[in-house]
Amino acid sequence: MPYYRSVGDVPPKRHTQHPDADGRLRYEELMGEEGFSSDSSLLYHREIPSAITDSRVWDIPGQGTTANHPLKPRHLKTHDLFPDDARRGTDAVTGRRLLLGNGDVRIGYVVADTVSPLYRNGIGDECVYVEAGSATVETVFGALSARAGDYVLLPRATTHRWLPEGGEPLRLLCVEANSHISAPRRYLSRHGQLLEHAPYCERDLHGPAGPLLATGTDVEVYVKHRGPRGEVLGTVFTQATHPFDVVGWDGCLYPYTFGVHDFEPLTGRLHQPPPAHQVFEGDNFVICNFVPRKVDYHPLAIPVPYYHSNVDSDEVMFYCGGDYEARKGSGIGQGSVSLHPGGHAHGPQPGAYERSIGAEFFDELAVMVDTFRPLELGEGAHAAQDPDYAWTWAGRGPAS
Ligand SMILES: [Fe+2]
Repeated sequence: MPYYRSVGDVPPKRHTQHPDADGRLRYEELMGEEGFSSDSSLLYHREIPSAITDSRVWDIPGQGTTANHPLKPRHLKTHDLFPDDARRGTDAVTGRRLLLGNGDVRIGYVVADTVSPLYRNGIGDECVYVEAGSATVETVFGALSARAGDYVLLPRATTHRWLPEGGEPLRLLCVEANSHISAPRRYLSRHGQLLEHAPYCERDLHGPAGPLLATGTDVEVYVKHRGPRGEVLGTVFTQATHPFDVVGWDGCLYPYTFGVHDFEPLTGRLHQPPPAHQVFEGDNFVICNFVPRKVDYHPLAIPVPYYHSNVDSDEVMFYCGGDYEARKGSGIGQGSVSLHPGGHAHGPQPGAYERSIGAEFFDELAVMVDTFRPLELGEGAHAAQDPDYAWTWAGRGPAS
C-alpha cells in the first residue's frame, strides 16, 4: 500500500535501541517486498520473531486442477459447496475449496463459523471478499474489522487469523495471488498517491488500529508456500512465542480493508467497459467490481453489455448482490461464479439486451477476476458445477 502509517510504540529513529520500561530491548523486524527495494514496514516484537521449535507438514487437500477441456463456459454454484451441516466447524483458512486456478492466482470459496488457525500465505498476497457475515481479522499488525462487502487485503507473509462474529456464517471468496495485489498503476501518481480520477482514495482504506499484544508459547502457525514446480505446499511451524507480540510498527506495507460500496462507479452516455470498474491488480490478473449504479443515458443506449470475446483473458464473475440484469434466466444467482474462457464470446441472456433499453439504474453487485492465462478447474468447481450453463444462450443442449 502506497502510504505511510504508524501504529503503537515505535522508536524515533529506525534501527536503534527500543527498550521497554524494564530496559529489555524489543526486536525489530523489517517486513519488505522485492528484496529491500519496495514497500516495507518495521515491526517491534517483544520476543524474537524467528524462534521456532517445530516444523511439520500441513497436507492441504484438493489443490490439484484440471484443464477446462473440452472448453466450456462454466457456472459454479458456490453455495452448494457448504450446506448447513458441512459448514459447522469450518474455518476461513483450512476450509477453503479451490474453484479455479493457474500459475498466477487461485480462487477459492469458504463458508466459516469457526476461528481459523494462525496462518500466513508465503506465496503471494491475498484479497478476500466478504460476501456475507462479519469477522475480526487479527494480524501481526493489529486487528481489522471485516463486514459484508469488504475486501480484506493481506500482504504476503502476514500472519493472521479469522474470527467470525455474529450469528451469520462468514462467506468468503478468496483470491490468492502468486504476486502482490495493489491499486492499478494508472490510478497512482508517480509517488504512489491515489489520483483524482481513481474511483477510491486513501480515506476508503482501513488499516489495523492498534497492537494486539498476545502472549503464549509454542504457538502453531499454518504456512502456505510454493514448491519447486509452482505447487502449493503447507507447513505448520510451532513458534516459541506468540507472533502477535508487536508493540508498534510503521511503514507502507500492512493489511487493510476496502468496502465495495466505497467504490465510486464511473458511468457514461454509453457502456463503460470493465477497466472502468477495476479495483485492484496483481501479476497477470485484475480485479474489478460492478456496483449499483446509474446506467448509460444516451437516448439509444443499450445498458447491458455488448457481446464480447476477451481474446487474452479468462473472465470470472462472482455474483454477490442485487439482480444481475444481463444474466437473468441463465441460472446465475447469489453466490454464483461464472467462468467465460478467453476467446469465447459471451454476453446477455436472450431477451436481456432488449429488456434493458430504457433502464436507468442497475442494482447489481459482482466481483470480477480477469486472468491473462487460462484458468483450470479445482475440486470445488467440479463439485459445484451447473452442467447446463454452457447451453443457456442457445436455449438447448446437444442434440441427443
Ligand atoms: Fe464479460
